[in-house]
Amino acid sequence: EVIDANKNFVLPGIVDLHTHMRDPGLSQKEDFTTGSMACAKGGVTTFVDMPNTVPAVITEKILDEKKEILKGKSYVDYGFNFGGSKNDNSSEICKVVDKVVATKIFLNVSTGDMLVTDENAIVNIFKNSKIVAVHAEGEMVKKAIEFAKKYNKPLYLCHLSTEEEVNFVREAKKEGLEVYAEVTPHHLFLNDSDVNRNEKSKMLLRTKPELKTKKDNEALWEGLRDGTIDTIGTDHAPHLIEEKLKKLTFGMPSVENSLEMMLKGVKENKITLQRLIEVMCTSPAKIMKIKNKGKLEVGYDGDLVIVDINDSTKIDKESLVTKANWTPYEGVVRGGKVLTTILRGKKIYSDNKFYGINGREISYE
Ligand code: DOR
Ligand code: ZN
Ligand code: ZN
Ligand code: ZN
Repeated sequence: EVIDANKNFVLPGIVDLHTHMRDPGLSQKEDFTTGSMACAKGGVTTFVDMPNTVPAVITEKILDEKKEILKGKSYVDYGFNFGGSKNDNSSEICKVVDKVVATKIFLNVSTGDMLVTDENAIVNIFKNSKIVAVHAEGEMVKKAIEFAKKYNKPLYLCHLSTEEEVNFVREAKKEGLEVYAEVTPHHLFLNDSDVNRNEKSKMLLRTKPELKTKKDNEALWEGLRDGTIDTIGTDHAPHLIEEKLKKLTFGMPSVENSLEMMLKGVKENKITLQRLIEVMCTSPAKIMKIKNKGKLEVGYDGDLVIVDINDSTKIDKESLVTKANWTPYEGVVRGGKVLTTILRGKKIYSDNKFYGINGREISYE
């Protein structure tokens, strides 16, 4: 098929290392198919799913079962993170190192019951993992960096949210440690003034890590520009609006709008288009060695997104495909619009229509 890109931009497909697709067990919030549609619509051609599904992915058996359940359900390519568990599942971690992207450890409280506090468990999880991804905040970022140094493991720090954390990572990199950092679009674009806008936003915009201050937003942008922060991961964490309004529930959907928001950052001179491609596509693939049929996934296998960067329409709730059915960016003028998404040479999304559930699991070796 010949696709006429006309005056539009063609970018490599986005690799999102941080999503919660809720399948199995929480599929009222999202399922693998709707989550992958949100990806396709957002220009994401490969995503990595987090282990806080139900049951939590902390044994080889649960991982294998999850993979079986999700086979043939995704529009885009995908991989999985394994979960480190509070009672030290390092023997399970050993069995799955070549079946997952990384081991994810929750070092601070978040959605799900996966917090690991026991120091011995943390040490064993580090020792037995290929690469460790952490939900760590504040001092725990420092602690995680110490573990990575001591046990000589690559460390991926999910969703930095403060200036202090950016400084911790800057120092670690100066020391030459293999430490990588991620930031979400919401920690770049939103802050406490958005949370406190009204009663509804006080519930909807709650997430872990919490949104911080304008000053933190700026420090995160600076970290992204100067190479301290390596990747954009969305932390796509869909919850239904009823769930969010009824009781404090952390997380927000975002995979559908991450590229469009980051293109807004380009228009506002927060980041160059070249750097955007590095942090959304090339670096995530390289850091986590995301492979497809043994080849490093950096867009070369025909995963492409066509965007109209002159589009200045507003992000609206009506067109959303995520089951969460709301967006923190409603009414925001997008920095560009995803027109078409191409997976391994085939059009999978164009003009609000989806084609073919052909997503497959990435390879890990
Ligand atoms: O706000 C959050 N929600 N932070 C996380 O770390 C997990 C996520 C979720 O799964 O809902
Ligand atoms: Zn997290
Ligand atoms: Zn997360
Ligand atoms: Zn690919």
